[in-house]
Amino acid sequence: MRTIRIFDTTLRDGEQSPGASMNVDEKLQVAKQLARLGVDIIEAGFAISSQGDFDAIRAISSEVECPVICSLARAKEDDIKRAYEAIKDAPRKRLHIFHSTSDIHLKYQFRISREEALKRSQEMVKLARSLVEDVEFSPMDATRSDVSYLCEVIEAVIDAGASTVNIPDTVGYSIPTEFGALIKAIHERVKNISKAIISVHCHNDLGLAVANSLTAVLNGAGQIECTINGIGERAGNCSLEEVVMALRTRHDIFDADTKINTKEIMRSSRLVTKITGISVQPNKAIVGANAFAHESGIHQDGLLKEKSTYEIIRPETIGLHKTKLVLGKHSGRHAFKTRLKELGYDLTEEELKIAFERFKRLADQKKDIFDEDVEALISEEAVKIQEAYSLVDLNIMSGINQVPTAMIKLKAGEEIRERTEHGDGPVDAAYKAIASAANTKSNLLKFEVKSITGGTDALGEVIVTLEEDGRTVRGHGADTDIIVASAKAYINALNKLVARKR
Ligand code: KIV
Ligand code: ZN
Repeated sequence: MRTIRIFDTTLRDGEQSPGASMNVDEKLQVAKQLARLGVDIIEAGFAISSQGDFDAIRAISSEVECPVICSLARAKEDDIKRAYEAIKDAPRKRLHIFHSTSDIHLKYQFRISREEALKRSQEMVKLARSLVEDVEFSPMDATRSDVSYLCEVIEAVIDAGASTVNIPDTVGYSIPTEFGALIKAIHERVKNISKAIISVHCHNDLGLAVANSLTAVLNGAGQIECTINGIGERAGNCSLEEVVMALRTRHDIFDADTKINTKEIMRSSRLVTKITGISVQPNKAIVGANAFAHESGIHQDGLLKEKSTYEIIRPETIGLHKTKLVLGKHSGRHAFKTRLKELGYDLTEEELKIAFERFKRLADQKKDIFDEDVEALISEEAVKIQEAYSLVDLNIMSGINQVPTAMIKLKAGEEIRERTEHGDGPVDAAYKAIASAANTKSNLLKFEVKSITGGTDALGEVIVTLEEDGRTVRGHGADTDIIVASAKAYINALNKLVARKR
C-alpha cells in the first residue's frame, strides 16, 4: 500500500479565505494541532506577504517539531531569501516556489514569454536549493497550461533540484477524468519524474477538489495539498478530513493511505472553526454536525441491529465520541488535570490554576460538565493576550414590556468604569454599554452564537468579529448565561484589538 503525504495549507491558502486571518498565537495553536493530527508538511505561511506571516512561520519553525515546515515564495530572489529566514530554525524545512505556466497568466498578468517563465522558475529553484535540501515547485494554473510546455517546466525544475512538483488546479476548473489524465501524462512524459514526488493542489470552485485529488492519487500522485474544513481562497481547497477518510475507507480502490491520526480530525476541525470563525455547514462530510446523525426510522432500525447497515465510518474513528459526562461539582483538581491530559492538553501550572478556577465557577452553574465544556474553558484560556479590559459585573433587565437595559462594570487598567445603556435587546444593550466604557470606535462585523452540548444549562459560545482601522479580530466567550458569553466575547475581541495596536 502506498503512503500519500499530507501537505496542510490551512495556515497559508486556508488563511486566504475571506475573514480567516489569524494572529501568531492562533497560527501556533493550529500548527501544534496539525502536528498532533500527523500531517507530513505544514505550509505555515507566505513569509514575504506580511510581518505577521513571517513571525508566525518563525514561531512555528522553532516550536513545532515533527512535520516539515514550509514557506511559500514567488519565483523571486527576495521572496526566497525571506522565506528561508522564516523557516531556517525548523528541524525539517521546505521552500515552496511557484510561478504561473498558463498562457493566460503569462500574457495578461506577468507579460512575459514562456521561455522567460521557464528560465525564472529554473533559476529560482536553483537558488532555493542552495539554501535547503527540500524544494517544492508549483506551476500555477497548471490545469489551464499547455501540457507540453508544462512538462518542459517540470523537467527543468526537477533538473534544478525540486524534489516535489505540485500541480495546482488554481481556479478549480478541472474535472476528475481530465485531472487524472493530466497527472498520468506528467508521469509518462516528464523524463526525470522518478526523481520527484507529484503533488496536487485542487481548488473547489466546481465542488470537485476532493474528487480531483483522489483521481490524481489513482494516477500516481504521492502528495495531496489540503486544508482543515476545506477552507481556502474563494470556494476553498481540498478538504483534509474528506480526502483522508476517503483513502482510509476505500483501501480496496486506492491501495493507499496517509499517516494521519484520524482521531484528531474532529478536534482539528473545531479548533479551526473557533479560530477563523468560519463554521462548517451541518451536512458537510465527515465533520458536519449531521455527518453521523441518522434521522430516518428505517436507518435507525438498521443501525440498532447492525452498525454497518448504514454507517461506513465509525464516529470514534474521527474522534467523535458520544458526549461524555466527565466531571461535576465535586471533581477535584487532580481529576480535572487528568481529564485535560486525556483530551491532549498539557497546561502549565499557572494555566491549570486559572482553568481550574473557571471550571469550579462553571460547576456551580452547571450540574454536568462534558468534554466539550472543558475544551471551551481551555480554548478561552489558550488565547494568551494581555487583558486591557475585563468584565467585573453585568446586570441585565429585559422582558416583553421592558426596554432592555444593561449596567456594566468594566475594568480598564486600574480604573473601574460603570455604564448603563438601553438597546434593541439585552445583547445590544450590553454591547452599547461595553462600547461606551471601552470608548471603542470598532465596528461589529459578525456575531455568532451556538450552544456547546445540549440542555438548557448548556454552555453558550459566542464568536464576535470586530474591525477597526482595517484590522479584523475575533473574540470568543463561553458561559451558561448567553448574555455574559456575548459580553465576554466582545471584551475578548476588544482586548485583541488593543494587543494588535500595541
Ligand atoms: O492555487 C494555487 O495555485 C496556489 C499555489 C501558490 C500553489 O495556491
Ligand atoms: Zn491555492
